[in-house]
Amino acid sequence: MDIEQEVLDRIKNAKRVCILTGAGVSAESGIATFRDAQEGKGLWSQYDPQQLASIDGFLKDPQTVWQWYQWRRDVNKDKQPNPAHLAIAQWQKHTQQNGTQLVSLITQNVDGLHQKAGSYPVTELHGNIWRNHCLQCNQVHQASVEAIEQVPECQHCGGQVRPSVVWFGEALPKQAWREAESAAYSCDLFLSVGTSSQVYPAAGLAALAKSQGAKVIEINPEPTNSSVVDYQITGKAGEVIPALI
Ligand code: OAD
Repeated sequence: MDIEQEVLDRIKNAKRVCILTGAGVSAESGIATFRDAQEGKGLWSQYDPQQLASIDGFLKDPQTVWQWYQWRRDVNKDKQPNPAHLAIAQWQKHTQQNGTQLVSLITQNVDGLHQKAGSYPVTELHGNIWRNHCLQCNQVHQASVEAIEQVPECQHCGGQVRPSVVWFGEALPKQAWREAESAAYSCDLFLSVGTSSQVYPAAGLAALAKSQGAKVIEINPEPTNSSVVDYQITGKAGEVIPALI
């Protein structure tokens, strides 16, 4: 794949980099994306997000939603980071050690693979599928992949335990959003990796960066043709990112 020298120079000379990743960065780890129409395997082409990934869906039928997340945990429990996650983690570590760039990693993914690859810190805009909390009192509960059929009861207040994943119609975790906004606002280079850029407010971060004069690079086998993208690198994250780094 030919990556323009200008893109490489931008990455090398950037002072503050904001990386936003979506489900596409985990595709090569074998985790289904949500809207990957071309394979027809996107999660949302098989299941109704409003029924399974919304607070109304959970309140209406907590059992089904709980079991769907237990199923997703079970199918993803042995998934490993791929070269894209590893290259991003290496880039973060390298720049943290030699202080040449500030690299902020913001992810929409809930699979925890960036952390598994060694990335730190990771700002999780949509929560983390490996954590649960009580719907009533917010007490955090560890997730487990044992096939727990029943929705667990909160040990603290007896309320309903739910996955700590942001559902449609819910606000993003305040601290995570503040971190993401600040990273996008202050960066001079914004990398959008493996996201269809359809779900707001995460999808608005690239425009926020652009409005502050940042250059925007998109890495995706299916260009989103977003008007804020300055450089489109058509390719898989697991191939492009290691090549860039
Ligand atoms: P999508 O499934 O909407 O988009 C995945 C993107 O990854 C698509 O643009 C694909 O073309 C691209 N892609 C596929 N394989 C790739 C690869 N190997 N390398 C790079 N890109 C690849 O997933 P997201 O944009 O992450 O929300 O979806 C955003 C949010 O919508 C998710 O966080 C989730 C979903 O509802 C919540 O869970 C709240």
